[in-house]
Amino acid sequence: MAALDNREFIQTAIDGHRHLDGALLPALHAIQDGLGWVPPEATPMLAEALNLSRAEVHGVISFYHHFRTTPPGRHVVQVCRAEACQAMGASALEAHAKRSLGADFGQTTADAAITLEPVYCLGNCACSPAVRIGDRIVGRVDATRFDALMAELREEATA
Ligand code: FES
Repeated sequence: MAALDNREFIQTAIDGHRHLDGALLPALHAIQDGLGWVPPEATPMLAEALNLSRAEVHGVISFYHHFRTTPPGRHVVQVCRAEACQAMGASALEAHAKRSLGADFGQTTADAAITLEPVYCLGNCACSPAVRIGDRIVGRVDATRFDALMAELREEATA
């Protein structure tokens, strides 16, 4: 995302979707896809453009866990919590991920490298438990593999 600052980008995202019925969700997705999060200034801008109250906009942002209200780390790592993964040890993997990264779901590691998030099925159920690292989906992840993947990410960041 090049020269546009946050406000300009948000305005562009709003303008690109305001003609739609139910423009709020697609506009929010466009904002997060472009900026990596939904900055606080988006709420009043969306409310005004879409003729909604700020409380309504805030309600939608906070209802959907997908939307981030703080900037993500350099990498976003999602651990699947849906049924097939649960059956294959996702709870233990989740607990390990939180302990190992020192970050709860929705939080970013102290070195700003990794944001940990839950996700509900990555369509990779046959290879449970699954995680997504950016756009890459990895199956059959246990604690050892998880730590190796995180070490790779951190090496990339310092390379
Ligand atoms: S339940 Fe985890 S990938 Fe489908």
